[in-house]
Amino acid sequence: MLGKLTLVLACAAAAMAFAPCHPGSPPLSISSASIHSAAKERKLALSMSVRSSSEETCKLLQRSAVNKILLGTLLAMPTTSFAEDVDDEKIRAGYATLVDLIENWTKYAGSGDELNGDNVRRQVGTVGNKSPLLGIRKALLRKQVDIDLFEEFDKSLQEIDSNAYSAIFADTSTAPKRGYEYMNDAKRDAERTLEIYKKIMDSLGLKP
Ligand SMILES: *[C@@H]1O[C@H](CO)[C@@H](O)[C@H](O)[C@H]1NC(C)=O
Repeated sequence: MLGKLTLVLACAAAAMAFAPCHPGSPPLSISSASIHSAAKERKLALSMSVRSSSEETCKLLQRSAVNKILLGTLLAMPTTSFAEDVDDEKIRAGYATLVDLIENWTKYAGSGDELNGDNVRRQVGTVGNKSPLLGIRKALLRKQVDIDLFEEFDKSLQEIDSNAYSAIFADTSTAPKRGYEYMNDAKRDAERTLEIYKKIMDSLGLKP
């Protein structure tokens, strides 16, 4: 966004430079939309020229035309393009996080009696605020991902969290399964989530 704004400013400055203010030179008019209003302003300028020098008028007109072009360009800019780039990055980072979680499963989840459900949850973004998967749903919705894929992904991601959470308390409660069983379920959920995630990225034309 800032980059584009700078570009627009540079263009405006260049336009100013190429249309130097000489008495009698026509006011700056670049887009067809501004021609109409430029004509109006020329009329105004004619009536003003009684009071001010034509050079001053020319400068006034230029400033107004440049302001219009600036405003027009800002309004015409697709407001989502910046967000889309950020979303693409986030979606790719989310993919890398899932792959890391699965490939390094025991590093995060622990093993045997030393399980760490919260580390798994940290990776999927339900604990802490570091995971790129935190807020991934909003990013996917902004990308208008297929709603069935989205719901499948959403459910699967929740199941990782739910099973990793159950693993934390299973061995000290009357839970029907042992902690490691919940953790195995969480891993299966993570693998399924990755499969859906791949489909989503494919549908969006995103490479990992
Ligand atoms: C797994 O962990 C190792 C060591 O931390 C890391 O270098 C590697 O990139 C991880 N794998 C993935 C797929 O991120």
